[in-house]
Amino acid sequence: MKRDYPNLCKPIKIGPYTLRNRMCSAPLGATDILADGTPGPRTLGFYEARAKGGASIVTVSELVVHPETDGSQMLRLSLSTPGQLGQFAYVADAIKRHGALASIELSHSGQYAGTYMVDKKAKAELCMYGPSDGTRPDGIPVKALTKEQIADIVAAYANAAALAKRAGFEMCMVHAGHGWLINQFLSPYFNKRTDEYGGSLENRVRFAREILTAVREECGPRFPIELRMSGSELFDGGYDLEEGCRIAAALEDLVDVIQVSAGSYQFGFSITHPSQFRAHGCNVYLAEEIKKHVSVPVATLGGLSDPDQMESIIAEGKADIVVMGRALLADPEIPNKIMANEGESVVKCLRCFVCMAERPVTQTRRCAVNPRIGREFEGHVVAPAAVKKRVLVVGGGIAGLKAAETAALRGHDVTLCEAEGALGGILRTEAALPFKEDMYNLGVTYAHLVEKAGVDVRLNTKVDAAFVDEFAPDALIVAVGSEALSLPVPIEEGARVLSIDDLYLEGAEVGEEVVVVGGGLTGCECGLLMRQKGKASHVVEMREGLAIDANIRQRPILLAELEAAGVDAVLNARALRVTAEGVVVSQDGQERLIPGDTVVCAIGQRSRAEAVDQLRDGAPFVRIIGDARRPANITTAIYEAFHAAMDI
Ligand SMILES: Cc1cc2nc3c(=O)[nH]c(=O)nc-3n(C[C@H](O)[C@H](O)[C@H](O)COP(=O)(O)O)c2cc1C
Repeated sequence: MKRDYPNLCKPIKIGPYTLRNRMCSAPLGATDILADGTPGPRTLGFYEARAKGGASIVTVSELVVHPETDGSQMLRLSLSTPGQLGQFAYVADAIKRHGALASIELSHSGQYAGTYMVDKKAKAELCMYGPSDGTRPDGIPVKALTKEQIADIVAAYANAAALAKRAGFEMCMVHAGHGWLINQFLSPYFNKRTDEYGGSLENRVRFAREILTAVREECGPRFPIELRMSGSELFDGGYDLEEGCRIAAALEDLVDVIQVSAGSYQFGFSITHPSQFRAHGCNVYLAEEIKKHVSVPVATLGGLSDPDQMESIIAEGKADIVVMGRALLADPEIPNKIMANEGESVVKCLRCFVCMAERPVTQTRRCAVNPRIGREFEGHVVAPAAVKKRVLVVGGGIAGLKAAETAALRGHDVTLCEAEGALGGILRTEAALPFKEDMYNLGVTYAHLVEKAGVDVRLNTKVDAAFVDEFAPDALIVAVGSEALSLPVPIEEGARVLSIDDLYLEGAEVGEEVVVVGGGLTGCECGLLMRQKGKASHVVEMREGLAIDANIRQRPILLAELEAAGVDAVLNARALRVTAEGVVVSQDGQERLIPGDTVVCAIGQRSRAEAVDQLRDGAPFVRIIGDARRPANITTAIYEAFHAAMDI
């Protein structure tokens, strides 16, 4: 067949293996790690999804090689625990049985040991080790590793690799980036040693060379080793790209492939995991430069999900392989879709960080756009329904779209009615925000997916009780969404007050100074957009912080953007009235005018309760989902939508 993405679909040799394509799954830590350090059943399902989805290498992460000096709550592998090897063998099997190469990431967190520990008391009691004595940016003391400890850790890498090989893994990744232990040795910022492990570049790469040599000796030449490194540390005092090229060149003789990531833990989370405020593929230049200095294949990653962009990265010789992390949570089937010329059907990652933020809260993985992530083991396969039903979905926002697509894929006869003239619901407003492009595009993608699934889409079609009576569906899914709350305060003559819809959908003009009332996620994003448009921007919030509804990974990134852009945060302030001069607020018991010629109301949403209530008796099976049930977020809307359709 003629491939739409011939370069992405081209095989490549890594050691003795020929990869089936150029698309690999980045190490993504699962969460179902049992007390003995073995992967639980949900971990197996978590990795299997990406192998089944067509990735050529699936890397299981993160195997801590030396628990004595790295007390992280991650995978551990030792023969002293009976049965341990078996648990790893099941995971390797689950990857290999779908034609992917099973790899495992060997890691040591060094001075960041315990980073992901849930037990905060145990974490506080951990002793942190690094190349040198020092203090972490957060004040925790760090002890320099002795030479005996270094030798012990080197041996531990080799031992872990050998055990992983015995369990069935076909290659390994040695993590030397992102600020973890090997990176700490490579870095002039962390490594202040005066012995043969510190100082010159030759000395700083010694630890990495010893580890790679030991792994090679233990596992042999036919067990590929992938080196994961940061092309540049990208902070003051860290190594730069020029030195990154020299590090890669100094290690390439010991590895089969180099994966070039970026940045360092604690100094650039939103670089290492490019946020919505960075360009897709913003770190590709690092791989491109390193590729000029080495002869082994080079892989790149960071915010990649677009098939056309990934195809041109390979076509233009910027990298030999593309690696995806979050994109393969959002849509594990990306490689299969690309191989099948279905690039338009790729559901792209929103870079919203739900995946990372969920872990500290519920100790599970979740994905905003993929309801099955972290729950693959529950067995929710979209299989044909035993009895074909007539399904009516009311509302063409993301909840309605997801429900309609899922029900149609199950073989039901699905009609989706949308009152407006376009699909997408609230997502349509995101087109106005350059940094929310991915979210806007989610609506576009789903409009394509419902069409492809054969849903009968009826725009400009308002559904009421009479309509449903006549339609007589077997199953009714109510996804009528929510509407914006209006300001519950007096608005004086001459004041200009806009809703988010006025601004984003109707293109209403704003003046030179804007006051946004409501400092949740929506209000903050609006305040930021106003600054990007060159307006003075104030965000008024009743609570003591902005974007309290944002998740714990996304919030600090957004707050940093607001600060850098110069958005004025007016906290602990309650709007009293709007005048032609701005918004009068009550703050610290005093009245104060927040000046502005335009006021935007972003105080929240409420469910369309009346529309919902008249449809409750519309069919034997009725499910109310998404904002229509209660205003929440995309994660909830998609989760409820998927399961409603699965229950029909
Ligand atoms: C949920 C999640 C878990 C991750 N776990 C690991 C890990 O265990 N080891 C690792 O080296 N990187 C880990 N990463 C980083 C990714 O491998 C990748 O470098 C990063 O997400 C950037 O790629 P992306 O933009 O394609 O997501 C993780 C990232 C995410 C989102």
